[in-house]
Amino acid sequence: MIIGTADIAERIGETVSLRGWLLSRQDRGKLVFISLRDGSGTAQLVCERSALEPELFDALGSLPLETPLEAEGLVVKPEGRESPELHVRSLSFRPSQGDYPIGRKEHGPDFLMEERHLWIRAPREAAILRIRSELEFACSEFLRREGFTRFDSPLMTPTACEGTTELFELDYFGKSAYLSQSGQLYAEAGAAALGKVYSFGPCFRAEKSETRRHLTEFWGVEPEMSWVGAEENMAFQERFIRAVLETVAERCAADLVLLGRDPEALRFSPESFPVILYDEALKTLAAEGAERPWGEDLSVEDEDVLTKKFDRPFFIYKYPVKCRAFYIEPDPADPRLALSSDCLMHGGFGEIITGGQRASDYGFLKKRIEDNGLRLEDFAWYLDLRKYGSVPHSGFGMGIERMLRWICGLHHIREAIPFARTPLRCAP
Ligand code: 4AD
Ligand code: MG
Repeated sequence: MIIGTADIAERIGETVSLRGWLLSRQDRGKLVFISLRDGSGTAQLVCERSALEPELFDALGSLPLETPLEAEGLVVKPEGRESPELHVRSLSFRPSQGDYPIGRKEHGPDFLMEERHLWIRAPREAAILRIRSELEFACSEFLRREGFTRFDSPLMTPTACEGTTELFELDYFGKSAYLSQSGQLYAEAGAAALGKVYSFGPCFRAEKSETRRHLTEFWGVEPEMSWVGAEENMAFQERFIRAVLETVAERCAADLVLLGRDPEALRFSPESFPVILYDEALKTLAAEGAERPWGEDLSVEDEDVLTKKFDRPFFIYKYPVKCRAFYIEPDPADPRLALSSDCLMHGGFGEIITGGQRASDYGFLKKRIEDNGLRLEDFAWYLDLRKYGSVPHSGFGMGIERMLRWICGLHHIREAIPFARTPLRCAP
């Protein structure tokens, strides 16, 4: 019977077959140890000269890395070893063409990104991608349990959502269209139709900055809720983060450990995530010698300083209207402030979510569109949402790669997606 390497521990004493690819090999005279990877994990094959055809055994010594193998044998758990191994009785392989380009020596990130189609086979990269898959399922599962309808916003759009300087333009049958920066505006239409919805798909940003937290193509999960204000929105984000991280900690414990990450780090004690006001954040920064003028967005460096003050995710709330997007609801107590928040991960990590309450008044929103230099006719449909049945509503967007980078403790966001797109890279 063919089993996956992940299931070998349940088969001790049985004869089974494994198939996969040769990850590494150690020759010990009459014994060859092969580490086999099959996508679900890795297993050790023990090949003994006396148990195999002589030509076959001799051939093992020169098999290139990544040779596809099928092996049958007995699952044995030697005393003192943590995982069982397969004592091989028969074995076959398919020839590989030449030497595998990724060896066991250290390679630089540029080389590895050039070979990304092969690099994803490395156990560490495969673990990250399995965790990504669980994270995406966990987001959908939680939102579905909470009564949300999945609502897929279009990826080709006639307008900007998050500022016109970061748009990828395309030729849409002789007219300009843009790759979507965020599914939010359409999700707002969805929330008026269906109550609670979420858009989940790629978002594009033509931002030229090469940083460890920016991609030009990332995946956004963007819930949008009718009849919900900014504070309830933050409380919901907290529940979302806790639930999703709990699921990942539970289902991905072995992969997290492989990455050197303690699954317990994904669980937080029950005290609420702190909410600090933008004004308080400026005071904290000033006390740390980083004085900032009121009204500007916080920089990555500012975020770094603030995130080191907390041991759990936290919110920064009530940013100045002038540094937020055109669609935000102003604070009725002080219209210079927006009912808008960022959620930052602690420990020097930074923003993973932006969210807030959306402007629900027709006249106010119309003026914001004009003041932001956007064309009213492009947003006529969006203004309709304020003309017909407008209610308070809120939502947020979380970047999957940002969250995955935090979960896995990755230095750079490029490892958090199968094929990263950055200003300098659109291949392979
Ligand atoms: O903060 P952003 O730009 O907010 C929005 O797009 C809102 N319309 C979301 C909403 O309310 N539905 O993007 C949301 C999140 C960020 O917090 C970050 O996690 C991620 O998307 N993100 C990026 N991730 C990787 N690379 C980039 N260039 C990103 N830009 C945003
Ligand atoms: Mg943001």
